Amino acid sequence: MSGFVISNVKARQVLDSRGNPTVEVEISTDRFSARASVPSGASKGRHEALEIRDNGKEFLGKGVRKAVSNVKTVIAPKLIGLDAREQGEIDSLLIDLDGTENKSRLGANAILACSMACARLGAICKGVELYEHLGEICNSTPNVMPVPVMNIINGGKHAGNNLDIQEHMIMPVRAKSFLEALRKATEVYHLLKRKIESKYGKHAINVGDEGGYAPPMESSEEAFEIIVETIEEAGYGKEIALAFDAAASEFYDGKNYTLAGKSMGSGELLDFYSDLISTFNIISAEDPFAEDDWEGFVEFTRKFGNKIQVVGDDLFVTNVRRLKEGIERGACNCMLLKINQIGTVSEAMDAAKLAYENGYNVMVSHRSGETCDDFIADLSVAINCGQIKSGAPARGERVAKYNRLIRIEERLTDSSYAQNLKRTVLGSYL
Ligand code: PGA
Ligand code: ZN
Repeated sequence: MSGFVISNVKARQVLDSRGNPTVEVEISTDRFSARASVPSGASKGRHEALEIRDNGKEFLGKGVRKAVSNVKTVIAPKLIGLDAREQGEIDSLLIDLDGTENKSRLGANAILACSMACARLGAICKGVELYEHLGEICNSTPNVMPVPVMNIINGGKHAGNNLDIQEHMIMPVRAKSFLEALRKATEVYHLLKRKIESKYGKHAINVGDEGGYAPPMESSEEAFEIIVETIEEAGYGKEIALAFDAAASEFYDGKNYTLAGKSMGSGELLDFYSDLISTFNIISAEDPFAEDDWEGFVEFTRKFGNKIQVVGDDLFVTNVRRLKEGIERGACNCMLLKINQIGTVSEAMDAAKLAYENGYNVMVSHRSGETCDDFIADLSVAINCGQIKSGAPARGERVAKYNRLIRIEERLTDSSYAQNLKRTVLGSYL
């Protein structure tokens, strides 16, 4: 066991892609060392595990010194002496040490950084790649490369424009490999820049938090129209489909939804989506209703769930308990997986397992505030989920994940591109 026992844990405050502090942890044995840092959302779900912020003077309240200190003083002494390869044991310890339902004592940011660093260290100790190690932990044989689900026009909380719908995405579903899909989607991204510039001017080509453009558009129809024109022009009409993340909690006031200045109830919002879905080749819809509007989700799923993917993000928050409720009620057919919504790698993989057992798809996702940590690229392949949302193919923290996937695809000798989705609601689009 020599070489595999955790002997040192370091933690520090570093910056994320928005310039906000986040937690980075470095864990070592006497022979190996690994590092991980955690992301942070802007349109966070109410039911997510809690990331602890200092709320002091530094960094306008956003410091994470308290979380860093929790790693150093509370977590580190307990991790030292454990076998880095035993992820289940490590995550159980982290969960018990915190003891709260939403990890509010030590902070999900403190806990997750440790969980991720341990997983990476475990892989190094075993002499395998991270995706292989994670695959062993959840009894899967990693061999499916994911569809890059790219947010190329940003709105909502991620951009300074009037688009209420947060993410207008493309899914290059028809390709032979991840590399080919990435190339096609990236070409569309660049062509879109030219089109936006000629139509809206130079000031319209700045990008939002997730690397997509944030032009001064008034509606999602306008956004999808220009995306469709671009896909056609690029010659990928059949290969690239559309998706959106409404992040509807952000335009819900507890009673009504407000889209483009118009207040509407759940029924009207459903009609709005009906029009959008019948007009455009939309194959995946995320958070079309607010996080506690179960009825809205159930209705939406009843109406579209056998034709397109319905994704629960703020609704499920990668939480087995919320997902169970959704399964019982018939909400969605896909779970968005964000490890920092739940706080440990093991719990995130448990949620994925529950999703699969119930015929749900899983889409691994970044957050709008990211670092260049590429952990989720490995995770998406480890659980063979077939789809990953990591923003536009621009900005270092977004492409870090796509570039890692290029390397993973090169390593895998018998990989397929998203073939597992053939048996799902997305099957007919592949
Ligand atoms: P967030 O948004 O990371 O800002 O929460 C991402 C999403 O809603 O999918
Ligand atoms: Zn979302």
